[in-house]
Amino acid sequence: MVRVKLTDTVFRDAHQSLLATRMRTRDMLPIAEKMDQVGFFSVEMWGGATFDTCIRFLNEDPWERLRALKKAMPETPMQMLLRGQNLVGYRHYADDVVDRFVEKAAKNGVDIFRIFDAVNDIRNMERSIAAAKRMEKHVQGGISYTISPVHSIDQFADFAVQLAQLGCDSICIKDMAGLITPQNAYDLIRAIKKEVNLPINLHTHCTSGMAQMSYFHAVEAGVDILDTAMSPLSGGTSQPATESLVASLQGTPYDTGLDLELLTEIKRYFEKLMDIYAPVFNPILARVDTNVLIYQVPGGMLSNLVSQLIEQKAMDKWDDVLAEVPRVRKDLGYPPLVTPTSQIVGTQAVLNVITGDRYKMVPKEVKDYVKGLYGKPPAMIDPKVRLKVLCDEEPITVRPADLLPSEYESAKKALDAHGLAKKEEDYLTYVLYPQVALKFLQGTAVEEPLEKKKPAAQATASMMPSASEPMAFNIEVDGDAYLVKVAPAGMTIQEAQPKAPTDGVTVPMQGVVMRYKVKKGDKVSKGDAIAVLEAMKMEQNILANKDGSVKEIYVKEGTTVAPGDVLMAIE
Ligand code: CO
Repeated sequence: MVRVKLTDTVFRDAHQSLLATRMRTRDMLPIAEKMDQVGFFSVEMWGGATFDTCIRFLNEDPWERLRALKKAMPETPMQMLLRGQNLVGYRHYADDVVDRFVEKAAKNGVDIFRIFDAVNDIRNMERSIAAAKRMEKHVQGGISYTISPVHSIDQFADFAVQLAQLGCDSICIKDMAGLITPQNAYDLIRAIKKEVNLPINLHTHCTSGMAQMSYFHAVEAGVDILDTAMSPLSGGTSQPATESLVASLQGTPYDTGLDLELLTEIKRYFEKLMDIYAPVFNPILARVDTNVLIYQVPGGMLSNLVSQLIEQKAMDKWDDVLAEVPRVRKDLGYPPLVTPTSQIVGTQAVLNVITGDRYKMVPKEVKDYVKGLYGKPPAMIDPKVRLKVLCDEEPITVRPADLLPSEYESAKKALDAHGLAKKEEDYLTYVLYPQVALKFLQGTAVEEPLEKKKPAAQATASMMPSASEPMAFNIEVDGDAYLVKVAPAGMTIQEAQPKAPTDGVTVPMQGVVMRYKVKKGDKVSKGDAIAVLEAMKMEQNILANKDGSVKEIYVKEGTTVAPGDVLMAIE
């Protein structure tokens, strides 16, 4: 008998995947006691996006959630997902912050730390693994699983050996996009079992429709732990259903031994809860999406790309962006697509398509990645892309965090100046998310209401003509196509045409003109940064298109502009 153990993700990954991470602690606690009786290997309930969401949208203290669930579930190990040196944020933090964060997480109730790094750079994981070991906690070393010409089963198995050498207590194959096929799951688990004598956990998502088959093959290969979610929050971009897996293995040598009746009682609770959370549940996420098999784009990344394109009024470029993602990923050395590399690759793909000129616009995060600040990419970055992004700057070769000065004490001083810290954990919340934390700790944050966002109304609003230009629509009447232009009352279509010269400096995308770096009469050279545009939450430089002097500026600072709008004329 080799009982398969289960980690239930309903309090973390499942609602992060299906409900935009919006489940409240008050909706977890009433069922916690029953969940505690099941006998799960662990319950994943902290880390990932939950920390950010708690303070940003729910007006909840993530540390209190951790303590409350730990108290309510004394029999079940509490598990968190930790992004290595990124902790629960989106950048690398200095070692002193990593040490304190892990220590406090352990003291407040985390029993199992699942630690991973987006590009599988072990140097980004060493510090947090050591910190969790010092606290005598179970460390699960994560392998970010992906498929690419440079990733192989042997390589992943080698990585598992490195994780074992750092003292990890178990190994997790973290397939965040649901890419693992049944055969690959089987082969990979066998390969790792041959190299290391540690329990193996498989984590996947149902996005591509292969997860349940892969789990069964994993079981046959000797997997020790599987990640599942209570059925009302399972499937789609979430994990396979807990109850179904328990039933599937009943009476086999792999029987989980878990009580299906108890699980069914728990299921009823979550069924009702899903009614409450219906406003934040997008049914598209519950579907099988086979795009992921071709583009390797995880579910969460797909919805990000959609919102970036809607913001840019460029949904017609959706297919181009989907095709550009694998190209950018190849250029950047095939990083697995998981936070934060999924954002890095996705945003660059959107920029490449919208500007029509690859790597003309490169956000800071992409520069940092190419510079090596996120770790060593799995394969070499395309030299031409590297040159375009970094010019003659050299990438770093040291561990990225070695370049970061300690930051805890200065953050502590900064927060003390506001007089807002009530406990030591508040300093950590502040280091991780300074702006959001201030609002939260001041008590001025408000819980987001659980109401249906009106996507139809929002879409209409964003499709309304802006004050500066008419909108064009293609309509069809009885099979004949017409181009219709719409402008706000009081503005004629003719007036709305740009009066600026056709060879002026234009913006490549929708955004807000933050500031000009030049004024009328200034001399400029081609390629000089002449203005800063804020677009897709990043600042982008707008460059002079020729040598000359600034003849006229047509758009005020603070104005929202659309692609093609002329900012200035240079003569
Ligand atoms: Co996941």
